[in-house]
Amino acid sequence: MVSYIQKEGDRLKQSFFIRTAAETAGRSRLAMTDRFIQHGNVTCLLHTVAVAYYSYYVFKKIPLLRLRRRELVRGALLHDYFLYDWHTPDPSHRLHGFTHPKTALANAERDLTLTETERDIIAKHMFPLTPKPPMRKESVIVCLVDKICSLYEVFKRNPYRNKELRLAYARIKKP
Ligand SMILES: [Fe+2]
Ligand SMILES: [Fe+2]
Repeated sequence: MVSYIQKEGDRLKQSFFIRTAAETAGRSRLAMTDRFIQHGNVTCLLHTVAVAYYSYYVFKKIPLLRLRRRELVRGALLHDYFLYDWHTPDPSHRLHGFTHPKTALANAERDLTLTETERDIIAKHMFPLTPKPPMRKESVIVCLVDKICSLYEVFKRNPYRNKELRLAYARIKKP
């Protein structure tokens, strides 16, 4: 039993999702987003890991969509990379709902080299609140998953018990 759990833990540590999450965090300031609350008691970091995890879940479950998995996961991880607490009143982030995709994109471009798909994911994830629609299928997935995760976080106390999701979250918090 112990060795099964050990093997399962080792398998998950090798997973594409966890490796990509750890690699993206290693080159950015993603870990600091754990200081900010997003919805309910969920931090911004846990929210973005969850959106990335369930976007990746769609990739695995619907191969017909032929999603670019690396860009899907990276874009989802960075979609809320605005790097401030949006609950704190501050003139620099008034109208947060409308402006944060742009801020997140500028921050991500400062720290990482992004592909066009990753840019589209970050910039368009608040559609239809922001008027420009997603132009890539990966952006459509993240836009939808983000809305579902956000609702779930508002209504569910202590959400996200999935082991792979939690391991990725822990790896980013303590590399
Ligand atoms: Fe957002
Ligand atoms: Fe989000």
